[in-house]
Amino acid sequence: MCGIVGYRGKKNAKDVIISCLRMLEYRGYDSSGIAVIENKKIRVIKSVGRIDELDKKLSRYDLSSCTCGIAHTRWATHGKVNEENAHPHHVGRVTLVHNGVIENYKEVEKKLKDYTFKSETDSERICALIDSFYDGNNEIEAINNAISLLKGSYALGILFDGNDKLYGVKKDTPLVLGINTGETFLASDISAFLGYTNEYIVLDDNEIVEIGDNFNIYYNNKPVYKTIEYTDYSIEEAMKNGYEHYMLKEINEQIDISRKLYSKYIHDGEFSDKLIDLSKYKRIDFIGCGSAYNASLIAKYFIDKYCTNVNFYCNCYIASEYRYTNHYFDKDVLAVFVSQSGETADTLASLRMCNSEGIDTVAIVNVLTSTMAREAKYVLPMLAGPEICVATTKGYFSQSYICSLLVLNLMYKTKKIDKEKLLEILEEYKKLPENIEKVINKDYKTVAKAIYKCEDVYYIGRGIDIYSSYEGSLKLKEISYIHSECFGAGELKHGPIALISKDTPVIALLSEFAVSEKTISNIYEAKARGGLIITIRKESINIDKDLSKHDIVVPLTNEFIQNLLIMVACQLLSYEVAKLRKCDIDKPRNLSKSVTVE
Ligand code: M6R
Repeated sequence: MCGIVGYRGKKNAKDVIISCLRMLEYRGYDSSGIAVIENKKIRVIKSVGRIDELDKKLSRYDLSSCTCGIAHTRWATHGKVNEENAHPHHVGRVTLVHNGVIENYKEVEKKLKDYTFKSETDSERICALIDSFYDGNNEIEAINNAISLLKGSYALGILFDGNDKLYGVKKDTPLVLGINTGETFLASDISAFLGYTNEYIVLDDNEIVEIGDNFNIYYNNKPVYKTIEYTDYSIEEAMKNGYEHYMLKEINEQIDISRKLYSKYIHDGEFSDKLIDLSKYKRIDFIGCGSAYNASLIAKYFIDKYCTNVNFYCNCYIASEYRYTNHYFDKDVLAVFVSQSGETADTLASLRMCNSEGIDTVAIVNVLTSTMAREAKYVLPMLAGPEICVATTKGYFSQSYICSLLVLNLMYKTKKIDKEKLLEILEEYKKLPENIEKVINKDYKTVAKAIYKCEDVYYIGRGIDIYSSYEGSLKLKEISYIHSECFGAGELKHGPIALISKDTPVIALLSEFAVSEKTISNIYEAKARGGLIITIRKESINIDKDLSKHDIVVPLTNEFIQNLLIMVACQLLSYEVAKLRKCDIDKPRNLSKSVTVE
């Protein structure tokens, strides 16, 4: 959601900040703004729309002497998208940018009778609150007093009139410091400053950083000493590198990610002991949102198929429901949290609930500086590198790859497969990069041309293909804005077939040999109603030539990763459709990369 950047150093702050802010565009936003210190005075400039709009406005000012500032991309929560509501906010002697949601801001406002507000935001109330405690000298105390009254989440970048330092504080939403010789950065995540430094410090809740020529961190007014960490992510990984869109780059990166995951989790035909042994538990709860939830369904599918018995079973929950459902917790329960960002509010809240119940928790997470990565008992890194496109592709890939390994490990530990079988399966994992490449090289443009003007597209499948169709359909709707739904193929005639008329696209996924005959019958039913049939199938499932108008065939591999090949095809089809519809593929409307509000 919102992105925060702060800079203090020797360079032109405006240029540095705008370049960092652009790296946070992927988080989703609808307005942006910047505040720089200019001759001890603070100048605030804001704009609705893209950062380019802000940049255009900034070109009217000479800000070349400014070396300190803060900036923000806003994804509207409180109040409309307009300049008044955009950040930075300036009240009294305080200017700030805020990411998060203050739940008691109405209550806070009642304490601020002497202030008038220009915006509808909770953030402007924080600004006034800090000002109300500020005596003109003691910035840390003013911030501490203010945050002690706030309920909710916040990451703040703060400037004070007449002071040339930059301050930051956070609770329940991330804020990191980038450390470089002679300059310090403040940002919502490390990708913002990767072009300048790989060294960083993650702030913990309610630690306040004061950035002057050096930086100091305080907790409860006492200094805190923290270790500087290093990331090997490079700026190139976070840039487009010649691809037209991040989405396309990230789809292509799945080739390399599958290699990285293999070498991280498999050693000499054995599972790395870092891969959690699910057999130690009796119940596994998988929890996630959106695509992360879809990926965890893959684990459940295989656990149900091969491992469930009277003493062992698996559940999958969308995180926004998990906390509000009754659960029985004891030492035999393991909760697995699946999240690319590691910051999704509902998933994080569920993780905290499980931690407070004292059960074992695991985070399958990509951003290793994230709150989930720090708070889960065990972490399984997704190794996907920075994912910038709001719609996940490589994130889902990595999550579902790890889910499949967790199940295979379980099957091996519980002797459902022997070493020989395991090695045979792992051979297919080794071949995955070349198979992905084959899928990438197919023609999706022709199929996209046939459907990009349609209003509705339906996905169908059976078995694991149902779960793949959840993700395929989500991908299409989020980036192309075409209405799309998915159904178990067997459910078609129980209702959804009423939606099929002449030329309604029906995308049938066919990777389950055991039920493929039945799915094919269902496809014929849709075709008989005029449906425009597109099949995406593994090569060993044969179909009659007349069944589908367009037929995408992916290489045959082991069932644990067959869905990944099917998904690459779905991703590329969605991509080409969205491109023909001239959509903003990497930054779809209304969506945000990291959903930090519930
Ligand atoms: O960062 P997370 O994996 O926790 O995010 C979960 C969902 O918000 C995310 O997968 C979302 O559904 C994506 N837009 C899907 O492309």
